[in-house]
Amino acid sequence: MPPDSFEKKNMQRLSAFRKIHEHFVNFPMPAVNWLWCLGACLITALGLMGLSGLFLAINYQPDIQHAFSSVMTLERRVPAGWLIRSLHMGGATMLFAALYLHIGRGLWYGSYKAPREFVWLSGLLLMALFMVTAFAGYILPWGQMSFWGATVATHAIGSIPLIGKSLLSLLLGGPELGDVALRRFFVLHFALGFIAVALVALHILCLHGVGSTNPTAESRKPDLTTRPFHPFYTIKDAIAVCVFLMVYTGLIFFLPQLIEKQANLLPANPFKTPPAISPEWYLAPFFAMLRAVPSQLGGLIIALSSIIVLFALPWLDRSPRHNARFRPLVSSGWILFFASFLTLTIAGLEPPSAFWILLSRVALVAWFSIFLILLPYASWRDCQQEVKK
Ligand code: HEM
Repeated sequence: MPPDSFEKKNMQRLSAFRKIHEHFVNFPMPAVNWLWCLGACLITALGLMGLSGLFLAINYQPDIQHAFSSVMTLERRVPAGWLIRSLHMGGATMLFAALYLHIGRGLWYGSYKAPREFVWLSGLLLMALFMVTAFAGYILPWGQMSFWGATVATHAIGSIPLIGKSLLSLLLGGPELGDVALRRFFVLHFALGFIAVALVALHILCLHGVGSTNPTAESRKPDLTTRPFHPFYTIKDAIAVCVFLMVYTGLIFFLPQLIEKQANLLPANPFKTPPAISPEWYLAPFFAMLRAVPSQLGGLIIALSSIIVLFALPWLDRSPRHNARFRPLVSSGWILFFASFLTLTIAGLEPPSAFWILLSRVALVAWFSIFLILLPYASWRDCQQEVKK
């Protein structure tokens, strides 16, 4: 869209205006569906998390004597403290829900393929960063679940041969979870939030270098029927963000029991293990993987490998076809993958039992078979067909 004279003058005054115009007004977008609005929802969630986090940090005391009571004081005595904390905790759930859907969209539409490898890899770095940030944040209130969840995870890190013990003492500042560790988790949680913002900027920079995937065309070439980002996609994103905020509000006002576990309303007690230790739902699939393997180290390797295969995805599936709708084998693979992810999430939230461990193992076999067998095979077959054409 041609800029009006006022905009034109502003662009001459400051080159940043030119960049904004290029990237957020005139940016050519192919015909994408509602799933492409999840990026805007993620940015909204991240902004709200950062803002509420800053207010939480004003009241929080990072030492094991006062951490729990500082959080309870915030909840009960500080004006709107409960709202700020609910925004932050509910924000984590909303952010991860949008994040997993955003990744699912990328898998289904083949957004990880050339030339978007950097978009995919920077996105995965963001996911890993959010997992660590969420884990560190969950320890901060120093409730029963914070303490015991951290104990399980740190034991798993300590089981790494050769470097495990040193890594653990670097993280905890000593052999045990205590004051020094809590302060380190606080700094880590706070600092990672800012690094995430920088990484999001990099992620969008990578995307704007190559443009969005075209979900309708069956080719790598950009669609000729692109539209400018503004007003077409700014309006669409704004509507999606409103719906996202309505669900977010519904969650924190009407379903608060879903965002905080009851066991975490009790202060940490190193002498009393809670009847069942389970993580937040968004880390549950990886917790289920840790439990599905009898050895602690084996579980850690499997959980890490399940993420590493995602990093290797652009090279495991090199087919020129993007949309899974036009690839029957791949679409069944992704449906199986989504089912495995769901199974592992439920398994990670349930108390350990032979049934859930068996199901987790089946889901794990499916997870790795899809990435290491089905996709390379489907990709090879597609390439053969393209050559024949
Ligand atoms: C808070 C974290 C994240 C934010 C704020 C974010 C933001 C965005 C935005 C604004 C877009 C453009 C709009 C859209 O396509 O939805 C986008 C696209 C994309 N994101 Fe993310 N993202 C995040 C995490 C991730 C993760 C974890 C992955 C994958 C592992 C990922 C992979 C992609 C890909 C492949 C695209 C390009 C889609 C296309 O080709 O059209 N992102 N992201």
